[in-house]
Amino acid sequence: MSVTRAEAVIDLAAISGNVATIRRHAQGSPVMAVVKADGYGHGLVESARAARAGAAEWLGVATLDEALALRRAGDREPILSWLTVPGEDYAAAIEADIDVTAYSPEDLDEIMAAARQLGRAARLQLKADTGLGRGGATADSWPGLVEAARRAELEGRVRVTGVWSHLACGDEPEHPSVKLQVDEFARAVDAADAAGLTPEVRHLANSPTTFTTPEAWWDLVRPGLAVYGLSPIPDRATSADLGLVPAMTLQTRLAMVKQVPAGAGVSYGHTYVTEQPTTLGLVPVGYADGIPRHASGVGPVLVAGRRRTVSGRVCMDQFVVDLHGDAAAAGDPVVLFGTGRSGEPTAQDWAAAAGTISYEIVSRIGGRVTRRYVGGNPQ
Ligand SMILES: Cc1ncc(COP(=O)(O)O)c(C=O)c1O
Repeated sequence: MSVTRAEAVIDLAAISGNVATIRRHAQGSPVMAVVKADGYGHGLVESARAARAGAAEWLGVATLDEALALRRAGDREPILSWLTVPGEDYAAAIEADIDVTAYSPEDLDEIMAAARQLGRAARLQLKADTGLGRGGATADSWPGLVEAARRAELEGRVRVTGVWSHLACGDEPEHPSVKLQVDEFARAVDAADAAGLTPEVRHLANSPTTFTTPEAWWDLVRPGLAVYGLSPIPDRATSADLGLVPAMTLQTRLAMVKQVPAGAGVSYGHTYVTEQPTTLGLVPVGYADGIPRHASGVGPVLVAGRRRTVSGRVCMDQFVVDLHGDAAAAGDPVVLFGTGRSGEPTAQDWAAAAGTISYEIVSRIGGRVTRRYVGGNPQ
């Protein structure tokens, strides 16, 4: 029987509860829970089921493959996907009743061709680039897109179910771009109305704006990070402040403990050298598991009852922690991050240590780390 080296314990009840908390914050707004990127590392299907258990009306994913995987897993409720490349299998998505997104008339042409071939209208959402400068139709090209979509609707090729956009600086609510984008989105909605479209949902708000900017809520909020219990505005509020519960705990066990003298170089490059005779603990996860190498010398970790710091470089499969002479043995538990309620660091602590965002910490936890689900019973 194989022994678990490292595991991400995912609290499904936390995910369900976070969706309910998000809805309360957004004064009862419908929620599209974003479960792309393997549910931000928490598991696509399991996170989706937990979000549905928390009454998420919609699921949002990036790729068609993610949306189709959710359908194969039995999800029958609305799903929006939003990132495609030319030549995608739109027919499979249309057959599976997935809402697809068009950024341009070229996307629309491909979607219409698939709908024509199937003899069935595609559920289509249109994305406006209101200032993020990423995907979506610019203000100049938007009128052409909505008019083409309306013609496609009249031909019976599509049903335009949504109009949406995405914010550049949602986590900085005072940033001037937020108001500019909110206003630009209102103009995009007006143009869609003027073209004769009657979308079921118009949406703009990601996690940070769900908590900070009611003007961005429209017909539903579209949070990802907050679903997993992490604060999208960590400079202003912790998860606990927002009533969110981090869903992932990353834990492992010491692979080895040994005594070393003063002056011992630790890990690649000897960037850490022991000051006195001490005990070193070997932690069997590394950057191939998603532990950021940027956290070398600074990442926080709970070992032998105390918070400690990664000593020296994070390697591909392992790193070392100076236990400063404390008693510990191979097999002792190590918690890299969790809720923080038992003294362990949080994913946000790792993000701060590594100079990144908590999104990256959880979503990069790799395939060698076993996922174990607790706190729910997803079927
Ligand atoms: C289009 C879109 N909407 C919503 C989200 C969710 O954002 P957040 O995780 O900040 O809530 C994302 C994630 O990046 C996204 O790409």
